[in-house]
Amino acid sequence: MNGLSNEEEVTRQLDFISKIRAFTEGKKLKYLVVTFGCQMNERDSEKIAGSLSRMGYDKADSEEEADIIVYNTCTVRENADKRLYGRLGVCKAYKQKNKDMLIALCGCMMQEDNVVSKIRSSYPYVDLIFGTHNIYKFPELLYSRLSGGSQIIDIWEKTDDLVEDLPSLRKYPFKTGINIMYGCDNFCTYCIVPYVRGRERSRNAIEIIREAEKAAEDGVKEIMLLGQNVNSYGKGLEDPISFAQLLKEVSKVNGIRRVRFMTSHPKDLSDELIEVIAENEKIARHVHLPLQSGSDRILKDMNRHYTKARYIELADRIRSRIPDVSITTDIIVGFPGETVPDVDDTIDVIEKVRFDGAFTFEYSKRTGTPAASMEQLEKEFVQKNFDRVLETVQRISKEQAARFAGRTMEVLIEGVDEKDPLRYTGRLSQNNVVHFPVTGAGIGDMVQVKLDECMGFYYNGTVVCP
Ligand code: 5AD
Ligand code: SF4
Repeated sequence: MNGLSNEEEVTRQLDFISKIRAFTEGKKLKYLVVTFGCQMNERDSEKIAGSLSRMGYDKADSEEEADIIVYNTCTVRENADKRLYGRLGVCKAYKQKNKDMLIALCGCMMQEDNVVSKIRSSYPYVDLIFGTHNIYKFPELLYSRLSGGSQIIDIWEKTDDLVEDLPSLRKYPFKTGINIMYGCDNFCTYCIVPYVRGRERSRNAIEIIREAEKAAEDGVKEIMLLGQNVNSYGKGLEDPISFAQLLKEVSKVNGIRRVRFMTSHPKDLSDELIEVIAENEKIARHVHLPLQSGSDRILKDMNRHYTKARYIELADRIRSRIPDVSITTDIIVGFPGETVPDVDDTIDVIEKVRFDGAFTFEYSKRTGTPAASMEQLEKEFVQKNFDRVLETVQRISKEQAARFAGRTMEVLIEGVDEKDPLRYTGRLSQNNVVHFPVTGAGIGDMVQVKLDECMGFYYNGTVVCP
């Protein structure tokens, strides 16, 4: 960080923001940030949007009308790459119409050498490329591009810096993510995240709580604590604190009504955490607990550090201590060497744990990961297994969703139903979606809603007490 402290670096970037503001003055310029991937990227995009807004850009409604587009990319699975290249092709035409339009790329995909080479050679009209480690330098890099003229590429291999407190613009005024840690040290053998997001680094608890307090002052009701593996939060801090303790502290912040967190690794989920959730109604009744596979052999090859039996036992412990909890998961089908009996084991876990929801992914080979050099499976074979897993997941989560029908539960109103302006849409603590007729309450309010009928994956309800 050029030896600068957090405050000095923030001041430096704010200075570039003012310089760009002078440039945009009176020009009515517009920005668009397009986000691929996970909640971490969503949060990073809020920070980029915050800087752009301070620079004097207004939000555009479409790529076509934007004067600067930032694509915040994901590389966890291969199809995300293809989607980005498709979008860049379309942008070329927009850029021909609007010669001053700028295209910036950032996020995980940019940490891969082959991607940057491809963009350099095939998409020379991209103006600015930066990575995950220097995202806070965005104002400075954009300023260089505006004053320099040629394509700027700045990718760092790694960083120990945690630069916070730059502007951010929340996508929703009533909920936000707060990063509690960056990076991942787990090295699951299929996963590229540790290579593109770097080593695990935790933020100080005091700073996290201060950010939660500030958000609450702005009217935020729901906070999502973000990390690749939140259960190992706190390692290496001067004042060690467990994730469970942090969660408890954040939930005490005045004005915050709900606290969520993402993602938990089953190997590190403690009894202390289960206890803290159970005892604190403000903490969401939702645990996202990626299973990945139900086969002990595959779990070992994936470097996951738990067995099928241990996962089931953990899920049972969570369900018995936290009534009404919803457990969701991620599952990968088609990891190298996976056989039909391995898939049977995954299906067995789905049936025993009864997931309330699951993201099912086909294994995607990521260059540079250990699994990429293992023998890969035939696509058709994987597809058949995938269909079986998906069918099980959908059947069970539909049955699970119906379990709250007829009950009255608390809903955070998130917006107007896209299909019907006379209805609101919101979420239960368990994360299930609920639609109900508009009443006196407004977006961002918590209301008690009777869940009249379950429509498969969402509920239709009516407000009981506004
Ligand atoms: N192929 C398929 N799915 C993957 N995930 C991570 N890496 C891969 C990969 N190479 C999935 C995991 C993880 C989620 C965020 O993405 O299930 O939990
Ligand atoms: Fe990837 Fe595993 Fe880290 Fe999750 S815990 S980000 S799957 S390496």
